This record gives sequence, C-alpha cells and structure tokens, in this order.
Amino acid sequence: MINPIFILAETALETIPLEIRDDRIIINYCKKRKKKPSEVLLDQSYHHKAILKLNDHEKRGRPDIAHFSLLEATSIPLYFENKITVYVHTLDDKIIEIGRNVRLPRVYERFVGLIEKLYSENIIKNGEKVLLKLYKGTLKDLLSKIKPSTVIGLSRLGEKSNFKKVALFGLKFERPVFVVGGFAKGTFKDEHKLLMNHIFSISNYSLDAHVVTARLLYEVEKNLSNKYD
Ligand SMILES: C[S@@+](CC[C@H](N)C(=O)[O-])C[C@H]1O[C@@H](n2cnc3c(N)ncnc32)[C@H](O)[C@@H]1O
Repeated sequence: MINPIFILAETALETIPLEIRDDRIIINYCKKRKKKPSEVLLDQSYHHKAILKLNDHEKRGRPDIAHFSLLEATSIPLYFENKITVYVHTLDDKIIEIGRNVRLPRVYERFVGLIEKLYSENIIKNGEKVLLKLYKGTLKDLLSKIKPSTVIGLSRLGEKSNFKKVALFGLKFERPVFVVGGFAKGTFKDEHKLLMNHIFSISNYSLDAHVVTARLLYEVEKNLSNKYD
C-alpha cells in the first residue's frame, strides 16, 4: 500500500509577531476587528508597511497561499478517498494537521476566521472528529513523526523534471513525502533543503504554490489509481 503525504512547508501563516504589535497599522487593525494581535493573522493585504520591518518579510503574511493550496489538496478524489495525508508547516515552525474529509471554507474571510480560531484553541473539532490540529514543531520534527520513505521537494531551482515523472518517482516508495513551499518569494531554507532526498523543478517559471499543488496531486491521483486498477 502506498501512502503519499503532502506538506505545504515554510507557509506564510502566523499571527501578528511580537516585533510589530505596537505598530500603528497593527493597533488600528486589531481595534477594528476587536481582537488581540495574538488572535489575528498577519496579512500583506492589510499590514504591508508593518511587515516590511520584519526579517524575511517577502516570505511572510500570505494566508491566501495556504487557503488556495489547501483547497487544491483537499477538494480532490485523492483526498476524499483518504489516499493522501495533508500537513502544513509554517515559517515560524508550527504544524497544522488536516484531518480526514475536511471541507475548508471556500470564502477567504471564513478561512481566516477558522485559522484564527485554530490559533487560539489549537484544535478544531466536529463532534468527536478532529478537523484541524495545531502544535509547535519544525519540519524536521514533522518528518521524524511521519517516517517517510523519501522526501521530495519541489523548487524551480531543482533537477529538471515534469509533474508526471515526479509523481511516478515518488510512488515507487511506500511513504513518499512531497514538499511544496507555502510562500510567495524566495526559496526553501538551507536547513530544509537538507531534509529533502530529491529536489525537482517542473518548469522554468516560478509557479504559484497552488498551481504546483494541484498539478502534482493530479498526477499522484492518476498514477496511484493506475497502480490499483
Ligand atoms: C511561488 S513559489 C516560490 C518561488 C520560488 N522562487 C521558488 O524557488 O520556486 C512556491 C512554491 O511553489 C513551488 N514551485 C514554484 N515553481 C516551481 C517550479 N518551477 N518547479 C518546482 N516547484 C515550483 C515550490 O515548491 C515553491 O516553493
């Protein structure tokens, strides 16, 4: 049995960091939303000028990337049939486990509301069923827990390949992990590249994470079904 795992890594998802909590933009935004900075997500659309003060600012404050990419990963037969496990690793080293049969909000504001609730309660349940779970952890911690047979990173700067070849390559292993970056600019940190057994590029273009997620998982889905047909 092959159990592929998908990780959206270094994802630009976090609550307002300490360094900018006293910035006027942040104070006004939190006042308007009647929430504490620790309860709202950092978002380039609203906090751009404040984000410029942060290290790695180009990679931060893009919850929309997680929204789009997770919709692509959880709205497909591969996921409906429990043939893929989905995780998010964030730039500030948090892990989000996505449970089985989770239907994420299609509307962005509702997705943000759900993730903000997750950040304040660490778990989202529907009855006894765990939908989302949040805890501290590095990508290395997550991989130690998953115990993959191989870790395949996707980056424009990797070895030239294509989606089909990458999917087929991964599916030779029992527990392949596919890692896509959940950020808009830049590349994976060196410490994360070192955790990857292979890094493949599927285009000369720098594509959006959700496009890479959708196309890669479609190939995984097709090729996984072929194996069992
Ligand atoms: C917007 S991109 C980040 C851009 C970055 N310049 C990069 O190194 O690809 C988000 C993620 O999509 C994936 N990606 C984008 N373009 C890719 C490509 N041509 N080949 C493989 N993966 C790609 C990577 O996982 C990347 O971290």
